[in-house]
Amino acid sequence: MEIKIDLFSDTGTRPSDEMREFMAKAEVGDEQLFEDPSVNKLTEMAADILGKEEAIYLPSGLMANQISFAVHCNPGDEIIMDESAHPIHYEGGATAIISGASIRSVEGKRGIFNLEQFEKAVRTKDYHDPQSKLLSIEQTSNLGGGTIWSLEQIEELTDKAHELGLKTHMDGARLFNAVAATEISAQRYAANFDSVWFDLSKGLGAPVGSVLAGSKQFINEARYWKQRLGGAMRQAGIIAAGGIYALKNNLERLKTDNDNAKLLAEELAKIPAVEIDPSTVETNIVIFKIKGEESAEIAEKLLEDGLRVSVLHDKIRAVTHLDVKKEEIFQAIDIFKKHLT
Ligand SMILES: Cc1ncc(COP(=O)(O)O)c(C=O)c1O
Repeated sequence: MEIKIDLFSDTGTRPSDEMREFMAKAEVGDEQLFEDPSVNKLTEMAADILGKEEAIYLPSGLMANQISFAVHCNPGDEIIMDESAHPIHYEGGATAIISGASIRSVEGKRGIFNLEQFEKAVRTKDYHDPQSKLLSIEQTSNLGGGTIWSLEQIEELTDKAHELGLKTHMDGARLFNAVAATEISAQRYAANFDSVWFDLSKGLGAPVGSVLAGSKQFINEARYWKQRLGGAMRQAGIIAAGGIYALKNNLERLKTDNDNAKLLAEELAKIPAVEIDPSTVETNIVIFKIKGEESAEIAEKLLEDGLRVSVLHDKIRAVTHLDVKKEEIFQAIDIFKKHLT
């Protein structure tokens, strides 16, 4: 079956011809020995954008989360995050294996929780309790539907976390979608976090990798974990160059993806069977229910017409990205209309 419009995920973005050319010409060296000029350039750029002392290039966002947890926590410590967070659902239980920390989940609203909920989740210093060591938030919240943590919410929670002796971590897989939507810089969003990373392989369109940033000391400890996990590479400049190209050329255009998602939500809201409030769509992820229909069955029918979406239990998730043009949003709507009344 030919997929004509792919709203399955922004992880499916493919490098453009220009990006491929740039990658082909990349200077390379032994990354494990810190001798790869392209990797070094990418990490300098990322540290600068995030306002941190240093950064490290990693093969995936998952590894960035898990390395951060391992640096911040000892086995038996507890990490506080929203119940929809990526490490709980999609990281194969890695937190239990790698850092040995456990996760205390908070029932937020569309991926976002408030100060009162956070304070309730922090354990007392009683010796019966696990020790709360880390607050982790997702910017934007994936399963929350691309929701943005506001600066005020971030500052309130991270200040409290530091006051209580916890470290703070931002899973910024889609941080730049939030930046594009609010025009608040990545540096400001990242300022109060002890560790923060973003993905190059989602909306930014590079084929591989994430960059994790923090203090010199944090990154030094992260390097040990990168080595332990087999994440240290050799001539990684070839793939890192995709990241350099993305940071130079693809940040601004994320606004188009956010606008396309909004358009999709507004058009979907006109279909009586669709349950969605377009005002809740803040970035490039659209999650909605279909009245009286099994979402998996609907997804199959859409696929027969070349439109791919993903299924989240009783909901459908559609994600916009650089391989989806505005006219394809209208084509997608026509396909939705054909199968839903
Ligand atoms: C919020 C969030 N965190 C982490 C990840 C993991 O990133 P990666 O696919 O680069 O390992 C994803 C991937 O979809 C994500 O959506």
